[in-house]
Amino acid sequence: MNKDLVSIKDLSAKDINGIFSLASEMKKRPFAFSRALRGKTLALIFEKPSNRTYVSFQVGMYQLGGDSIYLGPEHIKLGVRESVHDVAKTLSRYVDGIVIRTFAHAKVLEMARYSNKPVINGLSDFSHPCQALADVLTIKEKLRRLKGVTLAYVGDGNNVCVSLLYICSKLGIHMKVATPLGYAPGQKVIMQAKALAHASGARILISHNAPEAAKGADVLYTDVWASMGQEKEAERRKRIFRAFQLNSKLASFAKKKALIMHCLPAHRGEEITDEIIDSKNSIVFDQAENRMHVQKAILIKLMKGYVYVKKD
Ligand code: CP
Ligand code: NVA
Repeated sequence: MNKDLVSIKDLSAKDINGIFSLASEMKKRPFAFSRALRGKTLALIFEKPSNRTYVSFQVGMYQLGGDSIYLGPEHIKLGVRESVHDVAKTLSRYVDGIVIRTFAHAKVLEMARYSNKPVINGLSDFSHPCQALADVLTIKEKLRRLKGVTLAYVGDGNNVCVSLLYICSKLGIHMKVATPLGYAPGQKVIMQAKALAHASGARILISHNAPEAAKGADVLYTDVWASMGQEKEAERRKRIFRAFQLNSKLASFAKKKALIMHCLPAHRGEEITDEIIDSKNSIVFDQAENRMHVQKAILIKLMKGYVYVKKD
């Protein structure tokens, strides 16, 4: 694996499967890894709010015998009080890894470039790789296969959608995306995903028709219509995205047992109805749980933690 986890694009299928295997092993034998990152410290730079990412990284480090330090918007003031370059160089002298959640993806890239220690993208405006890894591990656990599975993503072509496009196209998962006009992922991402899909056997469809995307899908996925930083657009987006709500009518186009997924936090009654997110097919909290297992695997791999093989 590379030094950093900035994008799914930088991981090979072998890297991804290695993360899945280690995460699954840790789920089975959590105590076998309790000293894997002993003496190591992870910095958590968060310029945006977080529940899952922040808590799962912090608890994950704790469970691996290491420690973490939270650096919120008021602590570092990245690029305002001090340049990203100088923060990266300084933190590299103190900690063994850095998670960064920020607005501009360029800041994640810059941090990775100047830090001597691994940098993990904990969400940027462009992508959310840890989420996509946890999501696909969850699908694999539920369906016992990945190749040939069809995932329909309905809503905004945002950071979560982009990372799903990369991971699905790498692993041979068909992905059908339906967004309102003007809200599809960027053309460059679509071209890259289609090229990766060509190699893996996946099919990528980008459309503006939610029922068409949902038709015959094994998995239905949605995310908020207005992401963090887009709060001012929220009301306008509610009108534009109305036809893209994940509700029982839309779900009726998918396979009967189609899994319901959402990265959370959910805006219930907007992009997803209570009835659907609370339905028996919903696996949203399994996704949330797997954030921690997948991230523990990433931390061990990037921070070169020692994996204990003796029995629990
Ligand atoms: N899914 C996710 O990243 O959640 P948080 O924003 O709560 O971290
Ligand atoms: N697209 C959402 C994901 C939150 C986990 C956002 O960026 O706010």
